[in-house]
Amino acid sequence: MAIIPASNRRAAAVAQAKPGGAGPRPKASEAASLAALPLLGARPTLTAQEFQEIRKFIYDQAGIDLHAGKEDLVAVRLGKKLMAAGLKSYQEYFRQVKADRTGNMMTEMIDALTTNFTGFMREPVHFEFLRKTVLPVVGKRQRIDFWSAACSTGEEPYTIAFVALEALGGKAAQQVKILATDISTKVLKFAGEALYPAERIAGIPPEWRKKYLTAETAARDSALRVRPEVKRMVEFQRMNLMEPLRGGRRCPVIFLRNVMIYFDRATQESLVKRLAEHLEPGGYLLIGHSESLTGMPVGLEYVAPATYRKPGKLQG
Ligand SMILES: C[S@@+](CC[C@H](N)C(=O)[O-])C[C@H]1O[C@@H](n2cnc3c(N)ncnc32)[C@H](O)[C@@H]1O
Repeated sequence: MAIIPASNRRAAAVAQAKPGGAGPRPKASEAASLAALPLLGARPTLTAQEFQEIRKFIYDQAGIDLHAGKEDLVAVRLGKKLMAAGLKSYQEYFRQVKADRTGNMMTEMIDALTTNFTGFMREPVHFEFLRKTVLPVVGKRQRIDFWSAACSTGEEPYTIAFVALEALGGKAAQQVKILATDISTKVLKFAGEALYPAERIAGIPPEWRKKYLTAETAARDSALRVRPEVKRMVEFQRMNLMEPLRGGRRCPVIFLRNVMIYFDRATQESLVKRLAEHLEPGGYLLIGHSESLTGMPVGLEYVAPATYRKPGKLQG
């Protein structure tokens, strides 16, 4: 069957239109909370020097480019954190982040400055591509590896699993191994729980919901959990894409969607070159539809919007 039945197209279109593809921006409600800060008596002011220090730190640690114009976003998002911790300045908050050897505060800071927005079936054309173009070629292999790099809360890798099961049948549960990585331990914990509230499963066709998800009496109203046999197809790991990549096996497809929006051009180029080493000849790199590799000398061929191929022929 086609990936998205008519009844689900609207949900998918809505999911597409959400802000994941546009980089971090303060929301209207955040502008209001910025205005409210002085009323609460904290009056933190983000100085130009503090902004530059935070900017350099987050760039060095996670590749995230907080260029000029992001001062308000940083002030609002981190302002909430420092006020919650009872701190009086960004300097003080930033000192704590740097001193935290667990790395948890840095992860929280990155979470505050990026969006984890994702969704089942997000940018569905890629899943149609997987079903029609890739799985028919690799479907007879004993083992098929995919990588969802920057997987957020897990909807992307679980969608890959659903599509593989639909295309290849139950044997895909043993054949297909999906490495799903993200820098944020918070989203990985959520993904590992595999429990999704009703509003987040709207993009999944009802018949797939029945097959691949299960209701739990203990769970929140209408929340559904990914079935264990599907969950076992996905291995979640924390991985910072700025550090040496640990993907063990070469893949016919790597999903690198809606994360490069945070990186500058040089960082994007070096990341794509490093990731391409983990693609099989003829393998595909899928990026977000608001991202592009046009003019980037990374040795990949353009196939379709947001779809690139490593030279060579994908083997069966
Ligand atoms: C908008 S989500 C994209 C989720 C999914 N790929 C999609 O397209 O729906 C971006 C994710 O990138 C992650 N991220 C940001 N910087 C990263 C880095 N340096 N290494 C790994 N993940 C990173 C964030 O934690 C976030 O979960």
